[in-house]
Amino acid sequence: MKSQTIQTLITTIFLISIPTSFALPPSLEDVFVKCLYDFKPTNPKSPIQNFIYTQQSPNFTTTLNNYVRNLRYFNNTTHKPVAIVTAADVTHVQATVTCAKQLRIQLRIRSGGHDYDGLSYSSPVDFVVLDMFNLRSLEIDPKLDTAWVQSGAQLGEIYYGIANKSKDLRGFPAGVCPGLGAGGHFSGGGYGNMMRKYGLSIDNIIDAKIVDAKGRVLDRSSMGEDLFWALRGGGAASFCVVLAWKIKLVPVPAKVTVFNVDVAGNRGGVNTTELAAKWQEIADKVDNDLFIRLTLGASNKTVKASFMGMYLGNSAKLLEIMNRKFPELGLNKTDCIEMKWIESVLFWLNIPHGSAPTTVMLNRIPQKQIYLKRKSDYVQKPISRTGLEAIFKVLLENQNVTMAWNPYGGRMSEIPATETAFPHRAGNMFKIQYSSNWFIPGEAVAKDCLSQTERVFEAMSPYVSKNPREAFLNYRDIDIGKSLNSTYEEGKVYGMKYFKNNFERLVKVKSRVDPDNFFRYEQSIPVLSSSY
Ligand SMILES: Cc1cc2nc3c(=O)[nH]c(=O)nc-3n(C[C@H](O)[C@H](O)[C@H](O)COP(=O)(O)OP(=O)(O)OC[C@H]3O[C@@H](n4cnc5c(N)ncnc54)[C@H](O)[C@@H]3O)c2cc1C
Ligand SMILES: *[C@@H]1O[C@H](CO)[C@@H](O)[C@H](O)[C@H]1NC(C)=O
Ligand SMILES: *[C@@H]1O[C@H](CO)[C@@H](O)[C@H](O)[C@H]1NC(C)=O
Ligand SMILES: *[C@@H]1O[C@H](CO)[C@@H](O)[C@H](O)[C@H]1NC(C)=O
Ligand SMILES: *[C@@H]1O[C@H](CO)[C@@H](O)[C@H](O)[C@H]1NC(C)=O
Ligand SMILES: *[C@@H]1O[C@H](CO)[C@@H](O)[C@H](O)[C@H]1NC(C)=O
Ligand SMILES: *[C@@H]1O[C@H](CO)[C@@H](O)[C@H](O)[C@H]1NC(C)=O
Ligand SMILES: *[C@@H]1O[C@H](CO)[C@@H](O)[C@H](O)[C@H]1NC(C)=O
Ligand SMILES: *[C@@H]1O[C@H](CO)[C@@H](O)[C@H](O)[C@H]1NC(C)=O
Ligand SMILES: *[C@@H]1O[C@H](CO)[C@@H](O)[C@H](O)[C@H]1NC(C)=O
Repeated sequence: MKSQTIQTLITTIFLISIPTSFALPPSLEDVFVKCLYDFKPTNPKSPIQNFIYTQQSPNFTTTLNNYVRNLRYFNNTTHKPVAIVTAADVTHVQATVTCAKQLRIQLRIRSGGHDYDGLSYSSPVDFVVLDMFNLRSLEIDPKLDTAWVQSGAQLGEIYYGIANKSKDLRGFPAGVCPGLGAGGHFSGGGYGNMMRKYGLSIDNIIDAKIVDAKGRVLDRSSMGEDLFWALRGGGAASFCVVLAWKIKLVPVPAKVTVFNVDVAGNRGGVNTTELAAKWQEIADKVDNDLFIRLTLGASNKTVKASFMGMYLGNSAKLLEIMNRKFPELGLNKTDCIEMKWIESVLFWLNIPHGSAPTTVMLNRIPQKQIYLKRKSDYVQKPISRTGLEAIFKVLLENQNVTMAWNPYGGRMSEIPATETAFPHRAGNMFKIQYSSNWFIPGEAVAKDCLSQTERVFEAMSPYVSKNPREAFLNYRDIDIGKSLNSTYEEGKVYGMKYFKNNFERLVKVKSRVDPDNFFRYEQSIPVLSSSY
């Protein structure tokens, strides 16, 4: 009995003493959250406490999932962030950067979450997500020349806001998907159907507000021209957090004309081989006001070619151009639909004209999420008819892959390759996007779709750019190289493909503004020599 009592006493003492002498060290999560709480300056009107989600928060998973746009990077075994900060004030961004840097936790910055390989919300190491969706204001100047756009704004909000305020007289050249975030999309170039007329989004950006690795708020004049250059096409996540962009609005006509002509087999006796060959002759040379995307994919044992176009003018003028430059397509008046530029945004999403109000582009959370893989290529010389037929055969053998051929030329060829960090300018006829989408979870379907994409990409190698085989940063593709140890050599592999000769200049900027390599991820710009 006596020994039992002693045993109990010892156990009691042991238990009581745990909190002091045997306590586990505080978790990374606790230390990070405490650092955020202690950070100065604060904004008393917007305490950071209300914008932190840890894995214990009831809404953690929902918050993480809200801006996941590729389900391949979100499942029950995916490594989850230590915390998510849904910044609603500049001080929240400063606190997140400063604390993550101090504690050596990797940072993932997310605006629209459309990164094709999920790099804005997943990481193999401990990380926090800085989620920008609360910072999404749009301030248009009364003269309708410029606007300040916060990073978390999505394209639909920007397009809608500009059209509404300008009574349909202004637009902005950027991507075709209204959900894209200004933060990631603009800093990767920003490509869309007005590119041949006005260039990329970055060609129409004149200032930016950022938080740098030291937690300072800077603008174009205080950050330096070299960093402002890098942010336009170099991918901002290697350098800083972008808070907002100042954009130049562009004029759009009261009515634009759109069309989508699907051809399976032939149209008016002209087959898809001939049509694709002819498209290659004109798509990058025709009037800058005209953009025609060619999409190719297997459909019912044949290759379907879709010619989807937008002309910044009326249908009479468009038909006059098409009859002169591309009569083989046989475009006629019934194929053409005149509509407001803002309505054309829905047309490019395959929403039939008039079937939905333009406010649908303000929706933030999609109805369904998908699994996907994307890759890119650049074509610099025409593909022969024999080549085209070989390509069609490969598409028939890999039915879950489609290709979109997006014409360059026009304004894109006038801007020097060194003007911004985006290097793919004159000399490119068109860019290819390879797409595979699927809806079924599990490894087997994923493996099938991924290997089909790889096979099509391999088969295309004779027809596309070489040494390096160029790639478009916004079409993130983790398979073209990734940095495990953040060395210069690793970075050069994907860096030369995305940035060509601009890569070295990006490394210099990176080494100046972030020598500790805090802003790093699988495909970030390396510093000249890194100890990480
Ligand atoms: C359905 C769909 C359609 C698309 N259509 C087009 C198109 O028409 N044209 C085109 O050019 N691209 C297109 N893309 C690609 C798209 O431009 C890129 O995925 C782009 O990076 C998305 O930006 P985001 O802010 O939505 O993505 P995020 O995933 O949030 O971010 C992408 C990258 O940018 C970084 N980043 C995000 N915000 C910031 C910030 N504030 N500061 C610093 N770094 C930041 C992220 O860390 C990540 O590295 C499309 C993608 C999808 C999924
Ligand atoms: C948080 O979760 C609650 C209950 O599940 C829900 O009502 C609320 O809308 C969620 N908030 C956010 C921001 O997701
Ligand atoms: C994760 O697991 C839960 C329950 O175990 C399940 O309900 C949910 O569907 C799973 N989610 C995913 C993305 O697999
Ligand atoms: C779960 O997600 C991870 C990436 O986070 C991926 O590697 C893995 O294949 C996914 N698992 C399944 C069953 O899809
Ligand atoms: C469109 O503009 C009008 C006034 O110009 C404004 O009252 C309205 O709120 C705007 N609509 C949206 C959705 O912003
Ligand atoms: C397409 O048409 C061209 C010219 O009429 C012809 O030479 C070619 O064989 C056709 N290709 C196919 C696959 O039918
Ligand atoms: C596929 O083609 C066959 C024969 O040409 C036709 O009967 C069938 O309706 C087509 N199916 C679809 C989905 O187009
Ligand atoms: C336009 O072309 C389509 C497809 O060839 C045809 O069906 C339609 O009748 C044509 N319309 C006119 C007005 O010529
Ligand atoms: C792949 O394509 C085939 C043929 O069109 C289709 O039957 C199948 O469902 C597709 N697979 C997926 C995962 O979508
Ligand atoms: C890179 O890191 C991996 C994993 O830590 C290690 O195994 C490998 O040797 C490193 N490679 C180089 C070149 O340092």
